[in-house]
Amino acid sequence: MFVVCILILLGGACATGSPEAPLGSDGQPDPVLDAGREIYGSRCARCHGSSGGGGTGPKLDAGAVVEAYPDIADQIQIISAGKNGMPSFAGALSDDQLEAVARYTREVLR
Ligand code: HEC
Repeated sequence: MFVVCILILLGGACATGSPEAPLGSDGQPDPVLDAGREIYGSRCARCHGSSGGGGTGPKLDAGAVVEAYPDIADQIQIISAGKNGMPSFAGALSDDQLEAVARYTREVLR
């Protein structure tokens, strides 16, 4: 699997298999969403699916997180503190990283 990823990386198209963040209205990528995608692919996708379709963890796509957590702060709180089978990321991710991955799920996986 690692070797496959290296090969694809050399081909220039690897990343994580999670959807790319769209360019902003100014035609530039949003660095926060790009960072969120990295974090999602490496830490969340194995349980929530590479596109947020769910797996061990519930689906996060199709507006599910925005519906469950109208206020992003409540969603960040869950990711930070964990809940049942959802691990806590408080020690692993900074506040900025928590916000980036939360924004990625809300704005890109929707
Ligand atoms: C080991 C598997 C696992 C990993 C890794 C994981 N989650 Fe979860 N996640 C879960 C499970 C299981 C739940 C359901 C918890 C519950 O409500 O009992 C959950 C719940 C959630 C919820 C709440 C969903 C809802 O509808 O209430 C959010 C948001 C979430 N996870 C985001 C993330 C993010 C972001 C990451 C990566 C930083 C992540 N998760 C990594 C397993 C995981």
